[in-house]
Amino acid sequence: MCNLKSNKTLEEFTTYINEIKQLDNLEALTIFPSGLYLSLMSDYNISFGSQDISIYTDGSSTGEITAKQVKSTNAQYTIIGHSERRNKFSEDELLLLKKIKVALNENLKVVYCIGETKEEKLRQKTYQVLEKQIAKIFNSLSDAEMDQIIIAYEPIWAIGGGNPASAKDIAEISEFIKKIILDYYDKDIKVLYGGSVNSDIIASFNKIKTIDGYLVGSASLKIEEVAKMLQIINKNQ
Ligand code: PGA
Repeated sequence: MCNLKSNKTLEEFTTYINEIKQLDNLEALTIFPSGLYLSLMSDYNISFGSQDISIYTDGSSTGEITAKQVKSTNAQYTIIGHSERRNKFSEDELLLLKKIKVALNENLKVVYCIGETKEEKLRQKTYQVLEKQIAKIFNSLSDAEMDQIIIAYEPIWAIGGGNPASAKDIAEISEFIKKIILDYYDKDIKVLYGGSVNSDIIASFNKIKTIDGYLVGSASLKIEEVAKMLQIINKNQ
């Protein structure tokens, strides 16, 4: 899954998506473009979603994009709780839960991002932090709502810096996430890893049985990288 964040002008995006369209193994790809370009995505046979949605559902929310508007572009997914939203826009789990409910109400599948800071990792609080980020949402979801959630484990310190978590940590942590969701909520959940993923490291991460996919930022901006990653994922399936 490729999170393009707030990158690319209209012209750059159009060139990008037309090149992406030519690649093989597109069934494995989901693109999260800037909200500005969502309505262009239905012209391509590529799965897509929004990077966020408004907590509001009414028409009097200047500057916001509602879940209903996102759904009307034929988007299937929305990301909720990306660490950049949590940090730059002070989004806490109370607000994220409301957004998740709003998204699910419009039949958008949710990629819910969780992850620890560098400091929390150093203080060996990773598992505690993740458990809390999960419980604060999952305790308030119905059985059917949980089925529409994918978790993206994105250690905050690993995002954008070219320094991914180790394969060993990713394996242990994704196994932990799956286990608590199975134990507490009786659900088999899909877990993605995100944080400095690129074509060089995806091959080794792809051997991790408890990882179901990737949320890729910087590397997804380059066509050659997307092509290589799709090729590797396809070979391993
Ligand atoms: P990155 O971003 O791949 O550039 O680390 C990942 C993300 O923010 O989802």
